[in-house]
Amino acid sequence: MVVPESQDTMYYPPSDLQKDAHVADFSSYLALYRKSLENPEAFWKEIADKFFWKKPATGPVLQYNFDVKQGSIYVKCMDGAKTNMCYNVLDRHVMEGNLGEKVAYYWEGNSPDHHMTITYRQLLSQVCRCANVLKQMGVKKGDRVSIYLPMIPELVYTMLACARIGAIHSVVFAGFSSESLCERIMDAQSCVLVTADGVYRGEKLINLKQIADEALEKCRENASSSVTKCLVIKHHALRTKSGATCNKLQTPWDSECDIWWDEVMRDSPEECEPEWLDAEDPLFILYTSGSTGKPKGVLHTIAGYLLYTSLTFKYVFDHHHDDVYWCTADIGWITGHSYITYGPLANGATSVLFEGIPVHPHVGRFWEIIEKYKVTKFYTAPTAIRLLMKYGREPLQKYDLSSLRILGTVGEPINPEAWQWYHGVVGQGRCPVVDTFWQTETGGHVLTPLPAATPLKPGSATFPFFGVEPTILNEHGEELEGEAEGYLVFRRPWPGIMRTVFQNHERFENTYFKKFPGFYVTGDGCRRDKDGYYWITGRIDDMLNVSGHLMSTAEVEAALTVHQAVAEAAVVSRPHKVKGECLYCFVTLKHSREFNRTLVDELKRLVRERIGPIATPDFIQNAPALPKTRSGKIMRRILRQIARNEKDMGDLSTLADPKVVEVLFSHRCEAAP
Ligand code: WTA
Repeated sequence: MVVPESQDTMYYPPSDLQKDAHVADFSSYLALYRKSLENPEAFWKEIADKFFWKKPATGPVLQYNFDVKQGSIYVKCMDGAKTNMCYNVLDRHVMEGNLGEKVAYYWEGNSPDHHMTITYRQLLSQVCRCANVLKQMGVKKGDRVSIYLPMIPELVYTMLACARIGAIHSVVFAGFSSESLCERIMDAQSCVLVTADGVYRGEKLINLKQIADEALEKCRENASSSVTKCLVIKHHALRTKSGATCNKLQTPWDSECDIWWDEVMRDSPEECEPEWLDAEDPLFILYTSGSTGKPKGVLHTIAGYLLYTSLTFKYVFDHHHDDVYWCTADIGWITGHSYITYGPLANGATSVLFEGIPVHPHVGRFWEIIEKYKVTKFYTAPTAIRLLMKYGREPLQKYDLSSLRILGTVGEPINPEAWQWYHGVVGQGRCPVVDTFWQTETGGHVLTPLPAATPLKPGSATFPFFGVEPTILNEHGEELEGEAEGYLVFRRPWPGIMRTVFQNHERFENTYFKKFPGFYVTGDGCRRDKDGYYWITGRIDDMLNVSGHLMSTAEVEAALTVHQAVAEAAVVSRPHKVKGECLYCFVTLKHSREFNRTLVDELKRLVRERIGPIATPDFIQNAPALPKTRSGKIMRRILRQIARNEKDMGDLSTLADPKVVEVLFSHRCEAAP
């Protein structure tokens, strides 16, 4: 691989960023990348040496078997070492690094009236008090603690308190239903649930405690009541000035089980010796949806996750001491775990912790927050970008965004139109966009640009991170060289890869290692272009086969969103007599644009022009909104059913707004217009 020069439109790193960057040009990236593959021991040892080990490792930094044919799959990092995650991300900075007074988080509530600043010293003290509370409640090393909280500082306190005493946290996104929470509590067999009385999401008040109670009730009905105690936080926004609870909410209370956080935290000691744990002891479980119904409890362990999240954070966001970093994800997802909690704290970073939504109380909220805290590194999702794009430039023009240096995106392929808008309008053309591809399972970024080193192509996650060895396979498991498209797999582990599915190692092996022995299978399709750039084409199950031509939903969607009237598009297949499958497209229009025959014709022409006649859509329907999960992922299964006029929709509980389905049916295309 040489320094990329290409016929494609490329965006080169700005020279001011390169001046003091950790990886300042492409050849430095290549040299480090080679070292990470050729001498992983030396590479990771150097990283590990920056952290605190109560006892050193006894063997190589990374040990593994990645081939099911050779026996059970395992990955170990720093095996034999004793350490503590919480010590490494907090005490180390306060005791050794002199960072006690540095801001760890600027918390910004749902309402701009609620905000608070938390230094590293304050964070450590709250975490220790919480750790003592958990111990008092009987939580021990290895026990599971379910956390069902909005984006408030107590969420971070609780996670780190678990890490401090060796308990395994299982954070459940607070937008999940009682059903989903119950399922996750039962699978993890948690002994404690931590929740809040309620939360405002935009204008809407949600009675979280009631949902939590319903979940616990369901667990009891299933004869699985592992939870003995429920720790309840009074949300800041639900208190009067004197600290009492406002009476907007009826909080159901079971005095046998429920404990108010305030009451036990008040007298809890500020000192708590960390539990010295094995490097490979579990750190947390995070559930991710599986293709077959039941969510998988993805398990990450301490040392490997620490090394990997800290290193990716440092390099991918080119972290420097005076940065203010903001990741808009919710901690209920892996992005929040790795890049709000652990990665930034491991680097002693200052982050914004935002509870609200992008459009409340106005559509310029993101930009207002960037100005307020002088955010330098900003990390969000394509879905948020497309949402904000709909409102045009005007909301941004009111704010000073000149502090921004690097922009990041994650979660789905970013269509070039959204990329251009992010780069040109949000970043004012000055800031590289790091398109980070990764998964709950990978723990941290696996394909990503480095902002001062990698020339960018809009829509490409570019190249592998250190220690990661991607390859592309065809249906028969044969490796494809050069320009190619197929299954994205990894040939060897990196420290942050998941270790197992909680209490189901067989499912772990079956899901990720059986299809192509010797490789970790991502489940994503991927294309390598002539310059060696990787382009994620979407989940393999979202591949479309039209007249024998494989194409990805993402590329058709990208073509549709090129049209200036289109805000968002989703494409699924519908059976077709001649072609096998044909394309059925859902398009959401921008404000005040009209859906009509002329537009449909224009869109068809556009796709034909961008991809080729084989990709010409047969159906294009108006979609005032798309069916999305609470994490913003489009649920294509539902769109496929609408396209096929299948009325029995099955389980819609993971949808953010189930009403969308009815609306979409009412706009359905019967026959090709
Ligand atoms: C998709 C989120 C394209 C992909 C961190 C992956 C992406 C799934 C990107 C994992 C990206 C994530 N470009 N696709 N930059 N990032 N994906 O577990 O399909 O919630 O397999 O982790 O999101 O989603 P998960």
